[in-house]
Amino acid sequence: MRFDTPATTNPIDQLKIVGKPVDRIDGPLKTTGTAPYAYERHDVVPNQAYGYVVGSAIAKGRIASIDLSTAQRAPGFLAIVTADNAGRLGRGRFNTARLLGGPDIEHYHQAIALVVAETFEQARAAAQLVRVDYVRTDGMFDLAAAKDSWTPAAGLGAPADPGVGDFAGAFPTAPIQLDAAYTTPDHSHAMMEPHASIAAWEGDSLTVWTSNQMINWTVGDLAQTLGIAREKVRLISPFIGGGFGGKLFLRADALLAALGARAARRPVKVALPRPLMANNTTHRPATIQRIRIGATRDGKITAIGHESWSGDLPGGGPENAVQQTRLLYAGANRMTATRLAILDLPEGNAMRAPGEAPGLMALEIAMDEMAEKLGLDPIEFRVRNDTQVDPENPGRPFSQRQLIECLRTGAERFGWNKRNAQPGRLRDGRWLTGMGVAAGLRNNLLTTSAARVRLDHRGVVTVETDMTDIGTGSYTIIAQTAAEMMGVPLDKVVVRLGDSSFPVSAGSGGQWGANNSTAGVYAACVKLREAVAQKLGFNSADAVFGDGQVRSGNRTVSLAEAAGESGLVAEDAIEYGDLGKQYQQSTFVAHFVEVGVDVATGETHIRRMLAVCAAGRILNPKSARSQVIGAMTMGVGAALMEQLAVDKRRGFFVNHDLAGYEVPVHADIPHQEVIFLDETDPISSPMKAKGVGELGLCGVGAAVANAIYNATGIRVRDYPITLDKLLAGLPEA
Ligand code: MOS
Repeated sequence: MRFDTPATTNPIDQLKIVGKPVDRIDGPLKTTGTAPYAYERHDVVPNQAYGYVVGSAIAKGRIASIDLSTAQRAPGFLAIVTADNAGRLGRGRFNTARLLGGPDIEHYHQAIALVVAETFEQARAAAQLVRVDYVRTDGMFDLAAAKDSWTPAAGLGAPADPGVGDFAGAFPTAPIQLDAAYTTPDHSHAMMEPHASIAAWEGDSLTVWTSNQMINWTVGDLAQTLGIAREKVRLISPFIGGGFGGKLFLRADALLAALGARAARRPVKVALPRPLMANNTTHRPATIQRIRIGATRDGKITAIGHESWSGDLPGGGPENAVQQTRLLYAGANRMTATRLAILDLPEGNAMRAPGEAPGLMALEIAMDEMAEKLGLDPIEFRVRNDTQVDPENPGRPFSQRQLIECLRTGAERFGWNKRNAQPGRLRDGRWLTGMGVAAGLRNNLLTTSAARVRLDHRGVVTVETDMTDIGTGSYTIIAQTAAEMMGVPLDKVVVRLGDSSFPVSAGSGGQWGANNSTAGVYAACVKLREAVAQKLGFNSADAVFGDGQVRSGNRTVSLAEAAGESGLVAEDAIEYGDLGKQYQQSTFVAHFVEVGVDVATGETHIRRMLAVCAAGRILNPKSARSQVIGAMTMGVGAALMEQLAVDKRRGFFVNHDLAGYEVPVHADIPHQEVIFLDETDPISSPMKAKGVGELGLCGVGAAVANAIYNATGIRVRDYPITLDKLLAGLPEA
């Protein structure tokens, strides 16, 4: 189905099932521990052996020699894979560093060997006996030091250094100016389920049970790396214990399981041990950002400039921390730029709202600072600079933009009028208290997505698509879509996901999963409805589907009967025209945070949080709310604690486990409120929906930082805002 004109009324608009806060259909599997995750699939193929990954102990250089002989004599030893014996390997489209290194080493903990043995313990023990001698060479591990050797780099297909008007001329002449630098550290995904895969060969055909967000990308990259046809690779990933961008791509576990299984001539399972994950896989790169804003005395932005420096391995890309600045506020003279320095740290890549998450952590502090300079309330300042069109291209309107409504609704619901504009004035016992606000934007990306739907003789509708559910609720919203379209209750829908033998979906990433994957199911259901109508001799235009039946004129037939013994099948994809070009499609949020900061220790307690979102039709308010509160929690982590500590001499992330890499726990998080504004966006798809998952993270960190400033009068521009950065300014420290 081609979608190139705005949606009109369609069966989804009945909203009998779509739009309702139904429980997750996979909830019972999750809560009873019976949802099968990759490493636990003991039953899918017999005779599974265990692989253990050896990671490089240096960041840069080469392997001088590697002695396998002791390991090979270890109990239970079956095989060892290294770059020496793995045969010629290609590189995946989405991988920067090789997933099996050696003799050249590109980063710390790059995999250099896989040891396969009968049991996990034997594989681990044998892996300790692999003797490696390295020749270490110097590398660059310090972003601040590498910053000035940057090269221009455009992120994700964006033009280098886009701009309009004359920023260089307009900024210095603006009556009110801000020129400030902000930094964000390297972040690790820290998802609960480690990367894990089981690989089995049958002749030259490979099956991998894994944990992956983007089945189709990863099939392609695995085939390309192994040098085999993609038709020979099957990937199965029905449940994923968190991805956060770390599982968008082929990673070492899947490749090494495949190579290990080939070497050992039996199925092999590989999980990355937690201490390997931070350095072996990808991370969100640190940024240094410079923001310049110029405004008139009455608070109209006349010039806005945002530059971001980040680092990556050769061939990698920048953290596109400036992309929201191109769209969020009005202003005639604009400049944005991403600068990429070469670093020899592990590979940087997408993590939890890549680009906007760190970009808004900077921009939305800058807006708070600017509001203060202007003597304006920070909400009023944002409202004065709203734009209903793409500021770089005024002929291009936003399909929907309710940022002002998000801010105003949030202000009222949060009690913003109780905030004291003078920082450091409110005290509650030992706590200095304050409120902060920040805006957020995340785009709605359109991608082709296909599905197959089957109606059987029991009247059951089965949906198959390679879409994944990374804990987001895909199973449930897809079931709701099929139920609404076919006029059956939810318990008459079966959803099967995450298998490369199913039609190719949008997959899970960039908050594009919900809208695109359900639109693909919508398209397939339109075809199935036509097949039902045609079989019954109904005119499909006036056939009504409901209560498990289809009715036309005075004839009513049950879907079970219509399907008959052989059943009916339909397959289709949603394919987009240029509505994404004609309109800027984005989602918006306003975040409100109240904090208390201990007057003596600088400990920050989050007291209250509210997010007001405008993100198209909300397909399931319960799973959408769950997405947003999870994202708000990540924002608290980014503001207060998340940080990979870089060893700048040896070139690795030191705190590479969940003891040293801190994320928020329940005790850190108060009651959180989420409000979704009424919105349906007929430009986005027949579902009229958009994404919400990453939107929830956009701006939270800055709202926390602004609340800390309001509580203490201390402006920290260097994340995370740890106690040491507050102590010197506290009244009783
Ligand atoms: Mo997301 S970081 O695009 O999985």
